[in-house]
Amino acid sequence: MGTPASEKPTILTACQPTSHFHLGNYLGAVRRWADMQDDYECFFGVVDLHAMTAPYTPADLRRNTLECAAQYIACGLDPKRSNIFVQSHVTGHTELAWILGCLAPLGQLERMTQFKDKSKRIGQSVGAGLFFYPVLQAADILLYNADAVPVGEDQKQHLELARDLAQKFNNTYSETFKLPEPLIGKKGARIMALQDPESKMSKSDKNQSSTLYLFEPKESIRKKVMSAVTDSGSEISASDDKPGVSNLMSILSSLTGHSYEEIAGQFSGKGYAPFKEAVAEAVIATVEPLQARYQELMKDKDALNTVLKEGAEVAQKRAYKMLAKVYRKAGLLERVR
Ligand code: TYM
Repeated sequence: MGTPASEKPTILTACQPTSHFHLGNYLGAVRRWADMQDDYECFFGVVDLHAMTAPYTPADLRRNTLECAAQYIACGLDPKRSNIFVQSHVTGHTELAWILGCLAPLGQLERMTQFKDKSKRIGQSVGAGLFFYPVLQAADILLYNADAVPVGEDQKQHLELARDLAQKFNNTYSETFKLPEPLIGKKGARIMALQDPESKMSKSDKNQSSTLYLFEPKESIRKKVMSAVTDSGSEISASDDKPGVSNLMSILSSLTGHSYEEIAGQFSGKGYAPFKEAVAEAVIATVEPLQARYQELMKDKDALNTVLKEGAEVAQKRAYKMLAKVYRKAGLLERVR
């Protein structure tokens, strides 16, 4: 018999429902989460409120939210073992964000690199929500008093803020939150853009040839990999002066489990073309079963909505408990029922 959920450490993590997952989301995040489901009590959020911090269309957000849940399941998250829920279905995320926001140092929020990058990209129309985004993320984590948060490397700074805010709340009021540990994988934690291997792979890349989506057609995957930027020379090796080849090696190694040395040996003296073909084939072999499963899941939207309903019920119970504790400690008068 397995360990009861209540005795397992908790993980909370999430994806924004903005278009489909790319290979970075999969290798740096969701695939690893799937392997943690037996050892942790898992809360996997579809963070729709975060997705409102950049310009969007309501119909797209609604569709992407359900599709994000289907992608989670297609990638191996199992609603029987984990709680998959939509952030806006649970009361407490925005409430706790307010309390933490009152403790968050302005200067620290101003130093958030994702805010700086994204606000530059969005320009004039950037809303205050984008600035407050990392506080909401801290609330997502602390609302479940998570022990650990598995993420890709790009989320490291946000997690430091979550730890700082937990500590600050504990110091200001009294011991309440655990300090959540970031769990960042050794492999695949930072998959880079195919056309610009100095920047991370991202959904919002202007050059969409840079981003490999899990649910795009095989031919398109092959074309993108074959046209990925490589470096001067023809040697297959991972090093700082070969960011393009290093990125493709990291993808191949994450997908096949082969070490860099094995890959370098396999393609030694053969040039880039056979190496890239092997990368494309490995990606296709990985995504094919996920695509089939995803198509099946999307045929039964009622079943997906039921998963989200059940996930939110479990999440809500936990969230109410934590929120009541936080309100009490922060000096808010208890409501008479
Ligand atoms: P999001 O939706 O951008 O990404 C979801 C997960 O994918 C990882 N990731 C990557 N990993 C490797 N290489 C890449 N190129 C790459 N791009 C993305 C991310 O690190 C993440 O783990 N702010 C978060 C969502 C969030 C969250 C949370 C996460 C909101 N609340 C609470 C953890 C806990 C985000 O935008 O992820």
